[in-house]
Amino acid sequence: MKITVKDFRDMKGGTHKISVLTAYDYPMARLLDDAGVDALLIGDSLGMVILGYDSTVPVTMEQMLHHADAVGRAAKRAMVIGDMPFGSYQVSIAKTVANGVRFLKEASCDCVKLEGGAEVCDSVRALVQAGVPVMGHLGLTPQTAGQLGGFKVQGKEMATAQKLVEDGLALEAAGAFGIVLECVPAAVAEIITEITSIPIIGIGAGVNCDGQVLVTNDMLGLFEKFTPGFVKKYTELAPQIRDAVSSFIREVDNLEFPAAEHSFASKEDFSTLRDIFKS
Ligand code: KIV
Repeated sequence: MKITVKDFRDMKGGTHKISVLTAYDYPMARLLDDAGVDALLIGDSLGMVILGYDSTVPVTMEQMLHHADAVGRAAKRAMVIGDMPFGSYQVSIAKTVANGVRFLKEASCDCVKLEGGAEVCDSVRALVQAGVPVMGHLGLTPQTAGQLGGFKVQGKEMATAQKLVEDGLALEAAGAFGIVLECVPAAVAEIITEITSIPIIGIGAGVNCDGQVLVTNDMLGLFEKFTPGFVKKYTELAPQIRDAVSSFIREVDNLEFPAAEHSFASKEDFSTLRDIFKS
């Protein structure tokens, strides 16, 4: 049975810790869903780990919808979260709602995620009123990382930590059903998790959140450009892929591949076929 936004929200404070992973295509989303992850996030990290940009900023609505649609089709159990790309919720409330609706109508997402605190609460309210469930994203917000001084831990001082708690409460009051909390001291994340009544999903935010999210390409060792300090690599797929491809290249060169079992035979006698064309 598919996990709904209500099921997800109801997991707050339970004994089960929520697991979320990013997905960008059908085959990977099928694997993650089969393994039992609670939610699949089509993150705009897509820009960096799939499309090769240096940041998430260039990612467009069309790119997000293209990938989200594939993930949406793959998810049999996991809730599917579409990440609103930079520029899709900054222009006007009307455009924000129109873009949010597209994730549900055109890409079979169950909800959207957007970055920011008090400053995005009007957008959150409008989306929720229009029937688009919203997850917030606080702490290190990659779309505006430049304004935050780069990819750095946020909320390290009392004043900035207090602002994070206020933003969390503001998002909840605006109707957000959950919040991703990125790169925040574990002690601050624990307090935000305690004080809010919606699930707090940490990434680089310590163990005391309601759940955890990672970029799949990081945790599978598929993205080699850089690895944030909070990432645990559960496996190293990139060297395995390189090894497999090297074997293919070598076997093609040595005539070891394709072997008889990968080739097709026929009962027909073709011995005269060459002569037809050679004469
Ligand atoms: O885009 C993304 O993958 C994200 C996660 C880092 C939470 O927002």
